[in-house]
Amino acid sequence: TVELSLRPTTLNQYIGQQKVKENLRIFIQAAKMREEPLDHVLLYGPPGLGKTTLAAIIANEMGVQFRSTSGPAIERAGDLAAILSSLEPGDVLFIDEVHRLPRSVEEVLYPAMEDFFLDIVIGSGPSARSVRIDLPPFTLVGATTRSGLLSAPLRDRFGVLSRLEYYETKDLCAIVERTADIFETMITKDAANEVARRSRGTPRIANRLLKRIRDISQVKGEEAIRLETTDLALQMLQVDDVGLDHIDHKLLKGIIDGFQGGPVGLDTIAATIGEEAQTIEDVYEPYLLQIGFIQRTPRGRVVTPKAYQHFGLKGNDSE
Ligand code: ADE
Repeated sequence: TVELSLRPTTLNQYIGQQKVKENLRIFIQAAKMREEPLDHVLLYGPPGLGKTTLAAIIANEMGVQFRSTSGPAIERAGDLAAILSSLEPGDVLFIDEVHRLPRSVEEVLYPAMEDFFLDIVIGSGPSARSVRIDLPPFTLVGATTRSGLLSAPLRDRFGVLSRLEYYETKDLCAIVERTADIFETMITKDAANEVARRSRGTPRIANRLLKRIRDISQVKGEEAIRLETTDLALQMLQVDDVGLDHIDHKLLKGIIDGFQGGPVGLDTIAATIGEEAQTIEDVYEPYLLQIGFIQRTPRGRVVTPKAYQHFGLKGNDSE
């Protein structure tokens, strides 16, 4: 489908994340020259920046199969054993949310990553015994929002650590234009740039907004997506001038109105605005921190004067 072909399949097609790509290119080339599997790779960074896409690209560039699962999906050591023992030599196993692997599974994973074998305990009580299963060499690609969420022993077993950053507007603009191209939709330069500028540095958001803008443009009978339509559509979608959505607003206004701008603890603000603390921490906070609208202090989250200005309000401190 068109949807699937949105994902780039080679490093050359993958826009942005220059540093990550440069490094991976060299490590992939070296592994191929030695005819070895690539060392295990940990990809970390906020959601929607292309960790899964990059994992699939690694498999494609290595010329091996891509197998995909997630931390919460692997409940028991036996689940992991079933997956690992079905791999072909060199395959990439992608584990999304790798920090959510159960501890018991994590311990079984260590020897698998280091020496490509599993020690599985079969049965229980006096008849319990441990069997050793040899595995094909493989590459584990793990993804997580923050590397600090991983236990130290698991983190230490990844040979390549790559942090994905929020995209620059020019890179997001290129992604929007690429996506429009795949949709066979024309978009003006200033419209593409506007979508990019208001997508919180995140390709997943840019592509989602583009789809909705295209709907509106199409219904209006336009030949190409124009800046005026883009602006109208983004207003309808409650995306403000710097790309913040209504949840960002609820979060910031919640702290401003309910707690005089903070400091306030994460769980308190989560309960006040009715959003999951984890979602706030993983999805909303990182971007607001990045653009300097909130700060983390030992006593909790604080809304900055810059955010007050954005809302046309006067700050709560002496400025
Ligand atoms: N679509 C989503 N993310 C992308 C990226 N980084 N490069 C190209 N296309 C994309």
